[in-house]
Amino acid sequence: MKRLTLLTLAVLMSGSSAVMAESGKPDLKRGAEIAKTVCAACHAEDGNSGIAMYPRLAAQDAHYMTRETLLIKEGKRTTGAAVSMAPLIQDLSDADIRNVSAYFQAQQAKPGEANPKDNLALGAQIFRGGLRDKKIPACMSCHGPAGAGIPGGSTAQDGIVAYPRVGGQHKDYVVGQLQAYQSGARENSIMADIAKRMSAEEMNAVANFIQGLH
Ligand code: HEC
Ligand code: HEC
Repeated sequence: MKRLTLLTLAVLMSGSSAVMAESGKPDLKRGAEIAKTVCAACHAEDGNSGIAMYPRLAAQDAHYMTRETLLIKEGKRTTGAAVSMAPLIQDLSDADIRNVSAYFQAQQAKPGEANPKDNLALGAQIFRGGLRDKKIPACMSCHGPAGAGIPGGSTAQDGIVAYPRVGGQHKDYVVGQLQAYQSGARENSIMADIAKRMSAEEMNAVANFIQGLH
């Protein structure tokens, strides 16, 4: 009986879902299912991973997540332990990657905490005002005053789909990404330029500040 009803529904809705697919509206329910079965083991079902090596995805920009997931799937982003994620997502279609990204964007981000004894003042200075003598710009000019990011920061030439959310992100993950931009292991001209001007101490300080930002 239940199957029949679902089948009938599917037939009835097939017309409208085709239109939905065309207009690009993601399927959040399907996204939630994928999050639970495929992503939760590392990123947590609501995207608020409690383990530093697994970035927090809750409330992150969906376009940004779609692009990063595709890069990881195709073996083009191999930073950190991204290679451990790649084999697990090979069966996901582009549409499902969009669905699960939309689901994670819709999740509430839990605030993190900064360590007050870990160079917090320097971190706040870099994030809010930058370091003028080293030509390091204020992180907040692109990532927003609370680190919420800016959706659709698109300039087509640079391939920027968004200025990603960083507020509340794990400190170790943030340091890892800054190092990856510095070494070129992760390619992005804007962030490479900035990271190359930063010392290990500055990266550590700003990442600690970011972890407590919300
Ligand atoms: C085996 C653990 C694992 C699983 C399962 C996993 N991931 Fe990941 N994911 C990672 C790791 C580790 C990274 C960070 C890599 C790095 O440090 O650069 C990551 C990074 C990401 C990023 C980039 C985040 C950012 O801020 O740039 C996205 C988006 C992402 N994962 C989405 C997903 C989605 C969606 C799923 C489920 C379909 C998933 N992941 C399943 C381990 C996993
Ligand atoms: C001019 C704009 C701009 C400024 C200023 C800027 N960023 Fe970024 N940032 C970006 C863009 C664009 C990306 C996405 C890059 C990509 O696609 O890999 C990014 C990505 C990142 C990421 C990776 C996020 C993730 O989830 O993996 C981190 C961490 C980061 N920035 C930290 C910083 C810090 C710290 C500062 C200040 C020292 C800073 N950014 C200043 C534009 C900016």
